[in-house]
Amino acid sequence: MRLLHRHFIIGITGGIAAYKTCELVRRLQDEGATVQVIMTEAGTRFVSALTFQALSGRPVYSDPWTSPEGSGPANGMPHIDLSREADAILIAPASADFIAQLANGQTESLLATLCLAREIPLLVAPAMNRQMWQNPATQRNIAALREDGITILGPGRGDQACGEVGDGRLLEPEELLQHLVDRFGPQSSAPEAARFPNIRGILQGASIVMTAGPTFEPIDPVRGITNRSSGKMGFAIAQAAVLAGARVTLIAGPVHLPTPEGVARIDVQTAEQMHQTVMQCIQSTSAEIFIGVAAVADWRPETTQPGKIKKNSGSLQDIRWVENPDILAAVARLQPTPICVGFAAESGSLDDLRALLPAKRQRKQIPLLVGNIGAETFGEDTNQIMLCDDHGVTLLPPASKLELAHHLLTHIATLRHHST
Ligand SMILES: Cc1cc2nc3c(=O)[nH]c(=O)nc-3n(C[C@H](O)[C@H](O)[C@H](O)COP(=O)(O)O)c2cc1C
Repeated sequence: MRLLHRHFIIGITGGIAAYKTCELVRRLQDEGATVQVIMTEAGTRFVSALTFQALSGRPVYSDPWTSPEGSGPANGMPHIDLSREADAILIAPASADFIAQLANGQTESLLATLCLAREIPLLVAPAMNRQMWQNPATQRNIAALREDGITILGPGRGDQACGEVGDGRLLEPEELLQHLVDRFGPQSSAPEAARFPNIRGILQGASIVMTAGPTFEPIDPVRGITNRSSGKMGFAIAQAAVLAGARVTLIAGPVHLPTPEGVARIDVQTAEQMHQTVMQCIQSTSAEIFIGVAAVADWRPETTQPGKIKKNSGSLQDIRWVENPDILAAVARLQPTPICVGFAAESGSLDDLRALLPAKRQRKQIPLLVGNIGAETFGEDTNQIMLCDDHGVTLLPPASKLELAHHLLTHIATLRHHST
């Protein structure tokens, strides 16, 4: 009963994923919370108000002009009164249309009016087709909601109802529940949490552009050169940076990881694409911080063969290799210069790492370089990192990547503090 005495408004808008919210409403009550469901008219087309009335044990509100039979505040103003007794409003699923309304302060439904008139936290869990999600209009609206302090939960990545695959899935009921428990439940009882530095809000309002994962440099249509980076370290940093209050744009090489909640993700393949995308995003988001976690290939084939190179053709030996752009160095040369944090994945021992980091940091002209032993950590959930800055080299004890991400962001917040 982790949500005993909590009362939530659950808003349901017009999306296929509305069926998942049935389970969420049940699970919230299992945890001791009470739930008031409010639906848009389009929402009622996907799951009936009757279903939610039965699940929540309360009449469902939808029409701004009439309250459900036998209920409603005496003053006839549910758009004000319903939120006054609640701890938070969660919109799940939030349609692209509803997000646009919220971003623009529009009040086309009881639910939208209630959101505008609220004094309590608003959490929004988008659910839509991947193209609708990636559309610049939706991304602009999401950025506006974040600016307004609204929490964006997800979306998740994977198979979609329309048959396509990508970002835009409603988070699972259990994930949404966990978020409400983390935020509105009793203080987290996870023993591990005590070891994590508390980073909530330490990078409030900062715009971070970061990279993660490997790159893939094609040789021909079926072959290429890549490395064993899994992206886990970078994704953990992105996840923690959102908790720290930053707006995070994550440019990811080919990895099989879900997008952390609240992170804007752009997928790329090659080092050149990553370079271009980083430069564009730094400009478009006025990034204050750049964190280069990706294991970017240093070299690529000069040309990609249009057809598969045959086994006996000898052409594989003839491949000419050209150097890829040094993304970190390029960002460090920008004016104004974002706070640049680089990652060096090396082989060898920790002593070797300790010896080479200062010169590498000097060469890159960056305030913080993080070293780790690539072969030992690629694909793992744990890591050991070394921080190299103006004060020298510090080795952190082995820990989960998420815990290390918390330590690293604390360090970055200090750098940011000193640079302003
Ligand atoms: C079958 C069908 C499925 C839809 N699924 C979604 C969806 O998953 N996400 C979304 O943003 N819009 C979806 N739409 C479009 C919305 O329902 C439409 O924009 C509606 O006006 C939203 O209204 P509301 O924001 O007031 O709830 C779908 C429409 C149809 C006909």
